[in-house]
Amino acid sequence: MTAAEELRIRPAREEDLGTLAEIGAEAFSGMRPVAVAERWFRACWAAQPRMRYWVAERPGGVVGYILWMEKGGFRAEAVVELEQVAVRSAERDRGIGGELVRKSLDELMARIASEGRKVKLVEVTTGSEQGAIEFYRRTLGAEVVAQVPGLFRGDEYILIARPKPGDER
Ligand SMILES: CC(C)(COP(=O)(O)OP(=O)(O)OC[C@H]1O[C@@H](n2cnc3c(N)ncnc32)[C@H](O)[C@@H]1OP(=O)(O)O)[C@@H](O)C(=O)NCCC(=O)NCCS
Repeated sequence: MTAAEELRIRPAREEDLGTLAEIGAEAFSGMRPVAVAERWFRACWAAQPRMRYWVAERPGGVVGYILWMEKGGFRAEAVVELEQVAVRSAERDRGIGGELVRKSLDELMARIASEGRKVKLVEVTTGSEQGAIEFYRRTLGAEVVAQVPGLFRGDEYILIARPKPGDER
C-alpha cells in the first residue's frame, strides 16, 4: 500500500490541536516555541467557521494540516485564503501536501456551495525562500500576481487561483 492509499484527509478535531502545534513549530521557525504555536492554533480554532482546519492522517497519526480562511465576510462570491499548510518533515515529498490542498479545497468549496455561495478566488502567499510556488501552481492552478518586499523573512509572493467545482487539480 502506498503512502497516498493509506492517507485520510479529514476536518480537524479539537484534540488534534496539540499535534498541529508541533507540526507548525517544526515547519515554521516564526511559530516556535510549541506552546506559542498552540496559542495560535487555538485562536484560529476559535474563529470557526471563518477559519477551518483539515488534517492529513496516516495509521500512525496526524502528519500534516492545512488552514483555510474566508476574507472580507461570508460573501456570496467567497474570497478564501490558503493561510498555512505543513507536513511533518519526515513525511514530505510523498504527495501528502498535494492531497491536503486538493481534497480540503474540494470540501471547502462544497461547504460554501451548501450555503448557496461560491468560491470566487483563492489567494495564497509564499516566501521566495520557501520555493513553494511550483507546488501551488500544480495543486491549485495558482499564478503569481504580486511580490511584496520584506514581509516575513524575505520577499513574499501573492498567488491567485480561480477554481471551479470538479476541476482537475
Ligand atoms: C509545502 C509542504 C506542505 C508540501 O508538502 P509535501 O507533502 O512535501 O507535498 P507533495 O509531496 O505533494 O509535493 C512536494 C513537491 O512540492 C515541492 N515543494 C513544496 N514546498 C516546497 C518548499 N517549501 N520548498 C521546496 N520545494 C517545495 C517539493 O520540492 C516537491 O516537488 P517535486 O514533486 O517536484 O519533487 C511541505 O513541504 C512543508 O510542510 N513545508 C514547510 C512548510 C511550508 O513551507 N509551507 C508552505 C507555506 S505556508
